[in-house]
Amino acid sequence: MNLIVRFAGGFLLAAAGVALAQGEARLIPAPSVSGFERDASLQRGARNFANYCLNCHSAQYMRYNRLTDLGLTEAQIKDNLMFATEKIGGTMTVAMTTADATAWFGAPPPDLSVEARVRGKDWLYSYLLAFYRDDKTATGWNNLVFPNVAMPHALWSLSGQKKLVDIEYEDRDKAEAAAVAAKGLVLVEPAVGGKYFVKTLTEGTPGALTNVEYERFVSDLVNYLDYISEPVKNDRINIGIVVLIFLGVLFALVYALKRDYWKELH
Ligand code: HEC
Repeated sequence: MNLIVRFAGGFLLAAAGVALAQGEARLIPAPSVSGFERDASLQRGARNFANYCLNCHSAQYMRYNRLTDLGLTEAQIKDNLMFATEKIGGTMTVAMTTADATAWFGAPPPDLSVEARVRGKDWLYSYLLAFYRDDKTATGWNNLVFPNVAMPHALWSLSGQKKLVDIEYEDRDKAEAAAVAAKGLVLVEPAVGGKYFVKTLTEGTPGALTNVEYERFVSDLVNYLDYISEPVKNDRINIGIVVLIFLGVLFALVYALKRDYWKELH
């Protein structure tokens, strides 16, 4: 028993070591919402997305009127979420062309329709919490989860401006021990001479929201991105359950029928 625990522990440490050595940040898991809160969270997430992300990112597989699935009326969608002259049956597109965007930011803002399926919820949640002030980049921002990202921190007025804490360690073991002990987002990066940097974030200037409020804002937004990446996920799961129940009932009936047919032959 003891041996298994030790073996598993060693394995976990080794796995953590690999992840850290590759220069990937340790993520913060996205909070999950109960079914009861789901629609309210998605409605807030849709509002957050339309207000803060849609000016650069499209969601071209998402139609505005699909948002009625979340309990919004068409009037609410038009008044609160549609700023340009789009049609209610249209998709969430942007006016910016890819060429312009590349010229402005150095990289085009990707379409976010299926982003949650590409990156996963935890990555998105952590990414939106990982922006910090950096005078060395073109935008003045940098990100612990996506180093040197071309996106400016679109939510800085809400989150405030975080600062980077960059501590150098002599070797990898010391750096990893420090990373394991640190709370929240951590990035371990190899430096020259076999040294390692452990990067974390600390409070800078506060924003309009408290940390807890900002985390909820981001969590709603990530729920929404997860929802648009597969709007029929709940339907799909429900249909699957109905099909399994149907097959179960069918099996029972067919089996009873088979026994009835073979009764006289035995
Ligand atoms: C000012 C324009 C702008 C705004 C506003 C903006 N982004 Fe971005 N975003 C970009 C650009 C440009 C990139 C490409 C960055 C790169 O590849 O380095 C990007 C990249 C991303 C990525 C990473 C994509 C990937 O997997 O490579 C995500 C996720 C993202 N944005 C989410 C958001 C969310 C959510 C919002 C709203 C809170 C938002 N963005 C607002 C410009 C913007």
